[in-house]
Amino acid sequence: MSNRYKPVIASVPHILHGADYNPEQWIKMKDTIWPQDMRLAKEAGINVLSIGIFSWSMLEPEEDVYDFSWLDEVMDLLAENGMKANLATPSGARPVWMAKKHPEVLRIERNGVRNEFGGRHNACLSSPYFREKVTKINTLLAERYKDHPALGMWHISNEYGGSGDSACYCPYCKERFRDFLKARYGTIDALNDAWWTTFWSHRFDDFSQIEPPTERGDMNLHGLNLDWHRFTTWQYVDFYELETAPLKKITPDKPCTANLMRWFKPINYFQLADQLDVVSWDNYPLWKNTREDASVAMETAFMHDLFRSLKKGKPFLLMESCPSAVNWQPVSKIYAPGAHLSHSMQAVAHGSDSVMYFQFRKSRGSSEKFHGAVVDHEGQGKTRIFKEICQTGKALSGLDEIVGTTYPARAAVLFDWENWWAYDDAQFAHNDHKNYQEMVLEYYEAFYRLGIPVDIIDETCDLEKYQLVVTPLMYMLRNGFEKKIEQFVKNGGTWVTSCITGYVNDTDLCFLGGFPGPLKETLGIWEEELDSLYPEQYNEIEWNRKVYPAHFYCGLAHILDPEEAAGTKAEVLGRYLHDFYAGYPAVTAHAYGEGKAIYLAARMKKDFYLDFFKDLCIRLGLKPVLDQIPEGVEATVRSDGKQTYLFLNNFYPEPVQVSLLADGGVYYDHYSLLDGSLVSGRITLPPKGIQILKRTLRDAGTERISL
Ligand code: GLA
Ligand code: ZN
Repeated sequence: MSNRYKPVIASVPHILHGADYNPEQWIKMKDTIWPQDMRLAKEAGINVLSIGIFSWSMLEPEEDVYDFSWLDEVMDLLAENGMKANLATPSGARPVWMAKKHPEVLRIERNGVRNEFGGRHNACLSSPYFREKVTKINTLLAERYKDHPALGMWHISNEYGGSGDSACYCPYCKERFRDFLKARYGTIDALNDAWWTTFWSHRFDDFSQIEPPTERGDMNLHGLNLDWHRFTTWQYVDFYELETAPLKKITPDKPCTANLMRWFKPINYFQLADQLDVVSWDNYPLWKNTREDASVAMETAFMHDLFRSLKKGKPFLLMESCPSAVNWQPVSKIYAPGAHLSHSMQAVAHGSDSVMYFQFRKSRGSSEKFHGAVVDHEGQGKTRIFKEICQTGKALSGLDEIVGTTYPARAAVLFDWENWWAYDDAQFAHNDHKNYQEMVLEYYEAFYRLGIPVDIIDETCDLEKYQLVVTPLMYMLRNGFEKKIEQFVKNGGTWVTSCITGYVNDTDLCFLGGFPGPLKETLGIWEEELDSLYPEQYNEIEWNRKVYPAHFYCGLAHILDPEEAAGTKAEVLGRYLHDFYAGYPAVTAHAYGEGKAIYLAARMKKDFYLDFFKDLCIRLGLKPVLDQIPEGVEATVRSDGKQTYLFLNNFYPEPVQVSLLADGGVYYDHYSLLDGSLVSGRITLPPKGIQILKRTLRDAGTERISL
């Protein structure tokens, strides 16, 4: 059965190809520049442009005086040229009159000082005036363009939260924080218990006494810190709802998105994503044009997988990416020929239904005047980059059949925002560097290198569809996730976790009775102590007759007696070799119900994770998309459940040979969606080369897919 998602913009059944477009910056040259823009956009195969993102001062030049005439013209131009508008709400930056007349729209920063006008992304989300003005302008935009043929979708604000610590410390925001806490805890007594406020004599008598955490006040109540993070997320979710309310009412069939960012800690994106019709994100990796790009690609792949997973596999949009040098990076490296196509297709390979850029025409002034763009200052499309973008546009136009397919995963890696906040806040182990992202990536990398698709999940996700769930550094258990894990293992799932699992509950209080708290019985162990090794120190473990280094964290655990572990004892599969804990368990497996719970006591290095997960996946019958994936090459698939498409991407600056055998030696025929060739056996990928292959089983009377 074919199972596809609908195209994001219903009337555009293609991979979207587009860019942020700021025609208002060129309004005084519009007679020459705008028609040129349209010509070049069409030449590049662009079918969508994001407009109006920072246009408030042009749309409402004076308080309550609106001017949509220029936007009318731009919308008409897009329609005439067969393009859709990804029309933005302008709340990402405010006009100066607003800031001067109503300073409450400006954030008060953590230091207690109100910002002056300038920058962007730094509004107070609680200001009644700001909220009213946002509702008003969004309503006017929706009413004006609801029937316009160019309106494709809505781009809500820009990079929510993207300045400072994303929070405002004004009296309005503090009041809303107190209301948030009241709703959460009911009584001040419950809050005092949850936050353990008797510590350092911090008990509160009333919600009105609570201040957000700052250096001038309290940073030691971890429950407070955690709830402030939760409140910040809630603020953005609430603001998104405010922004989209008129749009949903007036243009109910137009999807809304907010463009998200890489490793963005202040907002729990799993929570925000619930509100979005489609997830989109802005991708700016530090490509180097060396072999190191293979690890840049791995981290980027993780991000793409995360953004696909936020909406349970629904294709996402690559909203921004740069076709050339990113001017704000420490080194603005240009990309080698071909690299642009490879970077773009990596997003598609992981489930993006778009390739979009910042920016269409390179700004003439201000801080982004040297940021890579589709059209350079040269202006006529004569650049190497423009030509590469045209090639990318052409390649994307051959991928209509990919639209709406997804990425089938039967394994999942946990990356949980609330866990990230709480774990980073905890004072223990390695305080200089908590390593959460690194360790999640190390686990992820094993699957990436093996070519085994994974989803990224948080502690609100369901586990039924997975065979294998891995939860590195799952310090905090929340939302009843421990019950889901327990049930998952009972039902036959395999769960792998690391040291520092199950230390605290959802208000950051330690579990009593030994770690991993409520998961002790499932895992069959008790982690009594945690040794933190200095960066230059190593221990070693022996597993599967091989010795591997262990570093940073070494959990010292005991195997529980059967009566404490549902009647069975965990098996010790690996042990430490040195220090006073030589002989202690380092790898354990506990048969629990129909499944298995596996504990990796220490932080290991890449080789261990690769060997360990390879062995485990073979045992579980989790198949890679290709039998052999050479270093530097990424292999992924998209599928509609029936037809599978194989994406190969060589991130090395030299040619690589890839064998197309899969499924333990089964031959497939492959039809290239890029050049129409039929390929099988072995292919050569040029430096930064890609292939996109429609896969069918050779001599297949029966249709069989390796996933
Ligand atoms: C972000 C913003 C864009 C632009 C780019 C530059 O992603 O959303 O407006 O500033 O960065 O890389
Ligand atoms: Zn505020």
